[in-house]
Amino acid sequence: MNIQWYPGHMTKAKRAMQEDIKLIDLIIELVDARVPLSSRNPDIDRLGQGKARLILLNKSDMADEGCSSLWTAYFKSLGCHVVKVNSRTGAGLKQINGAVQEACREKIERDRRRGILNRPVRAMVVGIPNVGKSTFINAFAGKACAKTGNKPGVTKGNQWIRLSKTLELLDTPGILWPRFEDQQVGLRLAFIGSINDEILQKEELAAELILFLEHSYPGALTGRYGDEILAGEDGEGLKGAYSVLERIARVRGCLLKGSGPDIAKAAALVLDDFRSGRLGRITLELPPETENDGK
Ligand code: G4P
Repeated sequence: MNIQWYPGHMTKAKRAMQEDIKLIDLIIELVDARVPLSSRNPDIDRLGQGKARLILLNKSDMADEGCSSLWTAYFKSLGCHVVKVNSRTGAGLKQINGAVQEACREKIERDRRRGILNRPVRAMVVGIPNVGKSTFINAFAGKACAKTGNKPGVTKGNQWIRLSKTLELLDTPGILWPRFEDQQVGLRLAFIGSINDEILQKEELAAELILFLEHSYPGALTGRYGDEILAGEDGEGLKGAYSVLERIARVRGCLLKGSGPDIAKAAALVLDDFRSGRLGRITLELPPETENDGK
């Protein structure tokens, strides 16, 4: 499947971010816990060189818990601090302050040695579109946020939100782009709904998702649609997945006028069930060194 991306104003955005990063101590990077690598920006490590790093595994309510633990260990092994959160409900947010202090311990101690006391850590939230940046900032900053005045050098319109005596947040999240040259990344981001469906062939996308689920989460489809959807002599690969889609259409009464299966409707149903968590908690990729079963 050829996925078209939105390169748009990437160079401009990158330049703006480079400027903003000079003003901060800590990068709070949101990734989607279902696709922690595919939802990262390929340049973030370079952009964030020399800064403390906190990775939030957001939407962890939708991810496989065992996989999230593997991802936590992986990112820690790269020197990042990690917290699992659900920005919709606020779960995990309480652990962030501790993690920020921990991530910025060196800076705080350096300040103390120089006699600078109580200078808040300055942080910036970054992430690719739809990863949950606005939801997170709203939940984390909440009503308590007090905006401080504009400061020189901050991109026009940016302000600091004082969260506590120890933490200030740049009020505008940094929007980054994913690894757009990699089709696997594109496919995974399409599964979670982070790429506009209008530019994708939904049926092919649903068939690809079915293939993945059959391999990595065999109970997810039958648990939702019944065992009969796997009953039959299906072909290999995508062909077999289309047959499953056809049976899901029949089981769910997605029928065309002549009573043939409405594949387009069934595809939309499967994608919607996956994206809203009705197929269960599913992680679409594993950290590089544990990638042994195609998950
Ligand atoms: P962005 O600023 O990074 O572009 O993302 P945004 O906050 O707009 O969030 C994108 C979608 O992800 C929203 O859903 C939001 O509610 C959802 N979301 C954010 N964090 C979490 C989380 O931790 N868990 C879950 N399950 N969902 C999360 P939406 O359907 O687009 O909007 P809405 O129906 O919530 O208004």
